[in-house]
Amino acid sequence: MRALQIGHFGDLDVLELVNVPEPQPADGEVLVRVIASAINPVDDKTREGAIGEGTPPLPMTLGWELAGIVVDPGTSGLSVGERVFGMSHQLATGRGSWADLVAIPAASIAQAPTSVSLVEAATLPLPGLTALQTMDWLGVGQGDKLLVAGAAGAVGGLAVQLACARGAQVDALVSRQVQIEVVRELGADHITTDRTTLPVGGYDAIFDTFGAFVTDAVADGGRYASIATQAGPVPDLSHRRVRTTVNQVREDGRGLAELAAAVDGGRLKIRVDAQYAMQNVKAAHEHFQRGSLNGKVALIF
Ligand SMILES: NC(=O)c1ccc[n+]([C@@H]2O[C@H](COP(=O)([O-])OP(=O)(O)OC[C@H]3O[C@@H](n4cnc5c(N)ncnc54)[C@H](OP(=O)(O)O)[C@@H]3O)[C@@H](O)[C@H]2O)c1
Repeated sequence: MRALQIGHFGDLDVLELVNVPEPQPADGEVLVRVIASAINPVDDKTREGAIGEGTPPLPMTLGWELAGIVVDPGTSGLSVGERVFGMSHQLATGRGSWADLVAIPAASIAQAPTSVSLVEAATLPLPGLTALQTMDWLGVGQGDKLLVAGAAGAVGGLAVQLACARGAQVDALVSRQVQIEVVRELGADHITTDRTTLPVGGYDAIFDTFGAFVTDAVADGGRYASIATQAGPVPDLSHRRVRTTVNQVREDGRGLAELAAAVDGGRLKIRVDAQYAMQNVKAAHEHFQRGSLNGKVALIF
């Protein structure tokens, strides 16, 4: 079968389409024929060698997301031919999703949403679970005032929508004027490109997707979650009784089922900026690296 691998770290030229043996599903795993995946910032960082310690051994197959068809359900209770989607923690497991077939724990996948294509579904698992799990950590609920920093991004855009669905009042910090209308359509209220205009102590919770560290904006006793691992820890705010974290996404089939229900219930809109055949993976990455996207870049197998 085909897989997109790197044999060493470097620029886009190290990405290779190679033939590798088909995976044999272990106990508790499901064998999935991948129809689509997507590119995430972590794939670039891994390829460049920017992650450092904890990176899987080379050569490695890249990719965290998949949507596809069940080939061998094992003991999962799923059926052959069923549409599923999943997130594979490529860094922790070495199990990359940019391959024709992936053997993945049944607990890490869910039935794909029925109202969207598998290409669209494939762009949801990593940013969707990151948004959902971080929202849970923040305890965002009815009436909370939440600020999402980086709200036009993949994770940020989903976080805005999930928080609105929970009844929160959501404001947003974005990088460019052109993103303001996009984020308004996702449900955000006040949207700014200027961090100096954020109200001091104005938010019960802040979801920071790019290391903005706009800590003055969180209320005393509030919550501040970053997902920008490489920007380092959130400054200690314990003197203001603010809980802080740098949240790390986890494989989570139940979370995916919750996201699928939100999509099918019309509460979560998936944004795909572009789609490329996996043979054109370099062009896909060049598109991805241009930035200011309105949604994800999907890879079709
Ligand atoms: N910890 C975890 O488990 C976890 C999980 C998923 C993602 N992440 C990380 O979280 C980050 C976001 O992921 P993503 O997939 O959402 O990436 P993304 O789609 O590229 O979104 C990042 C967003 O932040 C915006 N941004 C960047 N710098 C900004 C600035 N100075 N002011 C305002 N907005 C700014 C970007 O705007 P432009 O497009 O205009 O630059 C973009 O809208 C990445 O670093 C990723 O590696 C971590």
